[in-house]
Amino acid sequence: MLLGATIILAVRNAEKGKKAREVLLKSCPQANAIIKLVDLTDFVSIREFANQLTLEYEKIDALINNAGIIFHPYKRTVDGNEITITTNYFGPFLLTHLLLNLLSKSDNGRVINLSAVAHLRGKIKLDDLNSEENFVEIEAFSQSKLALTMFTKYMASLLKHTRITFNAVNPGLVRGTRHLRNSRLTTSFITKLSVWPWMWLFMKTPYQGCQTVIYAAVDPFLANVSGCYFSNCEIQKPSDLVNDIQLSENLYKRTCEIVKIDGENIINKVVECEDKEI
Ligand SMILES: NC(=O)c1ccc[n+]([C@@H]2O[C@H](COP(=O)([O-])OP(=O)(O)OC[C@H]3O[C@@H](n4cnc5c(N)ncnc54)[C@H](OP(=O)(O)O)[C@@H]3O)[C@@H](O)[C@H]2O)c1
Repeated sequence: MLLGATIILAVRNAEKGKKAREVLLKSCPQANAIIKLVDLTDFVSIREFANQLTLEYEKIDALINNAGIIFHPYKRTVDGNEITITTNYFGPFLLTHLLLNLLSKSDNGRVINLSAVAHLRGKIKLDDLNSEENFVEIEAFSQSKLALTMFTKYMASLLKHTRITFNAVNPGLVRGTRHLRNSRLTTSFITKLSVWPWMWLFMKTPYQGCQTVIYAAVDPFLANVSGCYFSNCEIQKPSDLVNDIQLSENLYKRTCEIVKIDGENIINKVVECEDKEI
């Protein structure tokens, strides 16, 4: 199905972006796909990317915060934050705020955040979001996906009187992507040989894995559905912490400090703008 949209492939590696674009054009030659560079671990890069889009486009209909890493060893980003929570949560948090104005120009701007089942095991360490005291790779991943899912619901409540919606999607376990590139499942030959064939059987293909994302991004029936967590194209119950309003507010404020934005001001401007238009 061709919806006539311009697709911006926001990638950190131009060569990989080109290859992705070629694959896209093979199955859909009329697609209008443009490559733009952004590194979600670098707040300056995110700002430059958002500025470019603001100069070049009048609106954004759907922002899919897809980039994510797991099992990455401890590493600090250029801004001094831990890399997993930055890629999976701080980066998308900043980008979403910087693009809110463009999203508000759409009749139904949608933000889709890629979560994971692992968010259910996550804990929020408000005073140590960067896991400096005790870093465990899988805990850093679970925390980042929980934070992203809480952010989704919290933004939906802050912007409930606007046309922008926010939903989180769990794609399921998907094979054939590079998500497990840092996992022992792919780096250890023995583990690969013994576990992989079984996992392979039960995992989704990339085609299957992206169906819920597409559903959340384009299905007309979801125009007013916001603040939900989807799996297999159905609304499912997320972690109880996602409904903890006080914790969500504290997390939101702490994250604004880390990414250095005045979130309240950005939200108020978008709400005021939409009020005037309605
Ligand atoms: N696959 C699964 O089983 C699974 C399960 C649950 C949730 N998820 C979530 O689904 C999403 C997609 O995962 P996937 O399976 O497609 O994994 P993937 O193949 O590793 O794709 C992740 C994408 O994120 C990009 N990325 C990573 N760091 C980035 C950065 N700093 N700046 C810009 N882009 C960056 C990667 O770019 P490069 O190509 O340049 O590395 C890659 O294109 C992720 O959020 C993941 O956490 C996946």
